[in-house]
Amino acid sequence: MLRARRRRSLAARPWRGALLALLAGALAAGAGPAVAAADAGRATPRIIGGGDVAITAVPYQVALWNPTRGTPLEGQFCGGVVLSATTVATAGHCVHDAEAGGLRPTTSIRVLAGTSHLRGASEPAYGPGVRDVAVSSIALHPSYDPTTADFDAAVLTLAEPLYAGSPAIDGVAAIAPIELLPASQSGSVTAYGALLQVSGWGDTSGGSTYPADLRATNVRVADQQVCGLQYLLQGGVTDRMLCATANGQDSCGGDSGGPLTATVGGTRVLAGLVSFGLGCANGVYGVYTRVASTAIGSFLRSAAGLPAAGTSTPPAPAPTPAAPAPDVAAPTSRVARRTCTRVRCTVRVTVSDALPTAGVARVTGTLQWTTRRACRRDGRRTTCAVRRKRTLRASLVGGTTWALRTPRLTKGVRYRLTVTARDRAGNVERRPRAVTLRRRA
Ligand code: ARG
Repeated sequence: MLRARRRRSLAARPWRGALLALLAGALAAGAGPAVAAADAGRATPRIIGGGDVAITAVPYQVALWNPTRGTPLEGQFCGGVVLSATTVATAGHCVHDAEAGGLRPTTSIRVLAGTSHLRGASEPAYGPGVRDVAVSSIALHPSYDPTTADFDAAVLTLAEPLYAGSPAIDGVAAIAPIELLPASQSGSVTAYGALLQVSGWGDTSGGSTYPADLRATNVRVADQQVCGLQYLLQGGVTDRMLCATANGQDSCGGDSGGPLTATVGGTRVLAGLVSFGLGCANGVYGVYTRVASTAIGSFLRSAAGLPAAGTSTPPAPAPTPAAPAPDVAAPTSRVARRTCTRVRCTVRVTVSDALPTAGVARVTGTLQWTTRRACRRDGRRTTCAVRRKRTLRASLVGGTTWALRTPRLTKGVRYRLTVTARDRAGNVERRPRAVTLRRRA
C-alpha cells in the first residue's frame, strides 16, 4: 500500500541495513531486559512508546514534507525545529541527497507548522493558524559526513515567516521558536540518566507504521561510552552525538531532524536533533545531534542568524538538574559457551544490565575444586579432601561478551566456576551462574 511507503526511511548512515543483521545477535544479548521489554510491547503504538501530543505543548515542532508526493500525510519525511520566524533546524541527512551526493532541491521540501495533524488527500485544507511554507535556501553543516552521520545538522531558511504574532490555539501559541541548549548548561541537562523528550510523526512500531498525529515520548541520556560500544562497529559516537532511550521508548524512522528537548527552569530548550539508530526501541540507543556541542551550536546559531551563545542579554535561567535515573538493577550473566582443551577451559559469558545502566564494570569467576591429600585422622593414615578456590577476572572480548580463562586444570578433577557481574554503580549480580568444568580427556 502507498501509505506504508510514503515515507522512505531516511538512513542517516548507509551501512545501517547491512550491519543490522550482523549486530542484532550481539546487541540483543547485551541489551537483555530492555530488549525483552521492547519486544513484548511491539504491537502497541508509540513514537516509539509515547502518546499523542498537542502542537501547543511542542510549538517548535514542524514537519518537513515533499510536495511532489501529494499531501503532508503522504509526503512527510522528517521533523524540524523552529529557531526563528524564518529559520528551522533539522538533521543534515534530511536535506542531503545521498545518491546525488548534494543537497536536495529546495522545491522538494515544505515546512508545515502550527499543527499536530498531517492532512491526507481526503481531508479539508488547513485553517488559518496552520502555516505551510516553502524553503528558500538550505545550509548543511560544512562538516556533515554522510558515512558516519557526524555533524548531522542543517538550517532551512523559509520563503515567508512562520509567525508575526504566533498563531494560537485557545490563546496558546501553536508556533514558537525554541532556545538552543548552551554548552555552559549542558552538564546537568545532558548528564547520564537525564530525562529528555522527543517528538515526531515517525514510525510508531519499528515496522513502517506512520501516524497522522504528532507523538512524543520520554527518553533518558545514555552513558556516552556504553553507547560508543553499541556503535563500535560503526565508528563509535562522536562529541557531536548524544545517545538516549528508555525501555520501549525511542524515536524512529521519520522522526529525524525533530526535537530532543529538556526542561530548564520551566522552559523547554533544544538538546538534540533526531539523527540515527540501529533499529528502534530495541535496547540500542537512539543517537541525536548534540546541540550543546560547540560545532553544532555555533553552526545553528550563525546559519539561523541568532546571536552567538553567551551574548544574550537576559540572564540564562538557572538549570534545574534533572535527577539522573539511578542504576539500581544488578547485571545478569549467562554462560554462552565453554571450550576446554587438554589443559584449560575458556568460558564465554554474555552480560546484560537493564536500562538505565552505568555500564558493566567487571566480571569475575570463582573457580572451586577439591583435591585429596594424604593425612592422618585418629592416628590413621587416610586421604582428606582439601577445598581450593581461585578468583579469575574476565576480559571484555567485544560488545557484551566477556571471556574467563582458567589456569591449567588437573586431570580428573571437577571444577565449579561461579560467574559474577558487577556494574559501575556497584550493583552485584544476585544469583551468580555456576558451571562445571573439566579438562578434555
Ligand atoms: N534516521 C532516522 C530518520 O531519518 C531516525 C532514526 C532514529 N532511530 C532511533 N533508533 N532513534 O528518521
